[in-house]
Amino acid sequence: MKFFIDTANLDQIKEAQDLGVLDGVTTNPSLMAKEGITGRENILKHYVDICEAVEGDVSAEVIAVDYDGMVKEGEELAALHSQIVVKIPMIKEGVKALKYFSDKHIKTNCTLVFSAGQALLAAKAGATYVSPFIGRLDDVSTDGLNLIDEIRQIYDNYAFETEILAASIRHTMHVIDCAKIGADVMTGPLSSIVGLLKHPLTDIGLKKFLEDYKKGN
Ligand code: E4P
Repeated sequence: MKFFIDTANLDQIKEAQDLGVLDGVTTNPSLMAKEGITGRENILKHYVDICEAVEGDVSAEVIAVDYDGMVKEGEELAALHSQIVVKIPMIKEGVKALKYFSDKHIKTNCTLVFSAGQALLAAKAGATYVSPFIGRLDDVSTDGLNLIDEIRQIYDNYAFETEILAASIRHTMHVIDCAKIGADVMTGPLSSIVGLLKHPLTDIGLKKFLEDYKKGN
């Protein structure tokens, strides 16, 4: 399972990268705004800064919602850095744009996916990644993990190459459950990655080992 961090915060990206388990980064317009990154030039520069801080794929989202606009913006984003993945919303114009970029061998991430039908369309259009938002489904009393399960089954039935990028991950159990189902990638906050480290028995056990070592030395 690949681990992506879902943030535009460079310090958090670097912390995850330093841990040695990071495979990429996802961002969205809300995450950029949260870091105070505004204005086209600043946003584009920040994408390059993120690419230089990590080794893997970095999703950069288009703002346009029409086909021509998505193509123009996506090409500009893709030209920024070889690690950029063009993030495109699951709307009719977006499906056409996914196909365009797929034909040009430019990586894409189809975002805002909330149903198996949408995920099927994204795969048919040749998306590199599909991003089902499991946390947001949970927020409206719908089982987000069930959607990951449905998409896994459909993609396996037809050997689609599109990778399932479980998004809107909120906590460590989402990560573990997505891994059990077979999501190819997870993207979540830093806490959902470093939280996997934690177990009180590890801390108690280490404390005892160190105390016992000191007794004999
Ligand atoms: C995915 O690419 C999105 O950026 C993200 O996972 C959304 O998460 P949220 O629902 O916590 O905002």
